[in-house]
Amino acid sequence: MTDEEFYGTAFPALLEAEALLQSLVRRCQLETEDGAKTKLIEKCQSRIKTARSMTAKLNRLNLPVCARSALTEVYDAVGIRIICGFIDDVYRVAQWLSEQPEIEILAVKDYIAYPKPNGYRSCHLQVRIRAECARNVLAEIQIRTMAIDFWATLEHELKYKKEIRDEALIRRELKRCADEIAATDLSMQTIRDIMEGKG
Ligand code: GTP
Ligand code: MG
Repeated sequence: MTDEEFYGTAFPALLEAEALLQSLVRRCQLETEDGAKTKLIEKCQSRIKTARSMTAKLNRLNLPVCARSALTEVYDAVGIRIICGFIDDVYRVAQWLSEQPEIEILAVKDYIAYPKPNGYRSCHLQVRIRAECARNVLAEIQIRTMAIDFWATLEHELKYKKEIRDEALIRRELKRCADEIAATDLSMQTIRDIMEGKG
């Protein structure tokens, strides 16, 4: 089944929501540009969750496999991921987004302040679009550092590898890497603070 078939008449609104979030990110980049300083956002990716992975998620959650539950019970049919250089920038982007009238923040999941047991760190915003073009569409915004993104991308790929030998060992090692990366992120932040005279 194609994504259009799965999401039905709601599909165009999902595309509008994705485009709106991308335009917000561009505006955030422009409005927060401050001369020679490091840029706030390094890169940004977005996607509509495929029919296949939405079906798997609905099954996992024991929800009916239909567009309605995909759009009302699940927050990430539309998803955007914003990658920053530094931890402070993650929070600056989150703050900026929370001030925009086009979106309403429904929930903030701060896995940077409160990492998941496996070491996952990222700041997630669950939002509802207020703008007319995609009114009431739900979306998930993930904001994280480049270093964390590197870990999360590889960890995600590894999770989908069929059969994992020495699972406990792998889990421990991934957690160790996540913690080392978090420590490095803090060091990079400190270096920048010192260079900017804030240290
Ligand atoms: P799902 O995890 O998508 O079922 O939604 P949820 O309601 O449990 O929200 P959660 O905040 O746990 O996760 C939302 C999204 O964050 C996921 O779809 C992933 O993109 C990402 N994510 C959450 N946990 C992890 C993790 O341990 N590793 C990686 N690589 N990504 C994660
Ligand atoms: Mg989850």
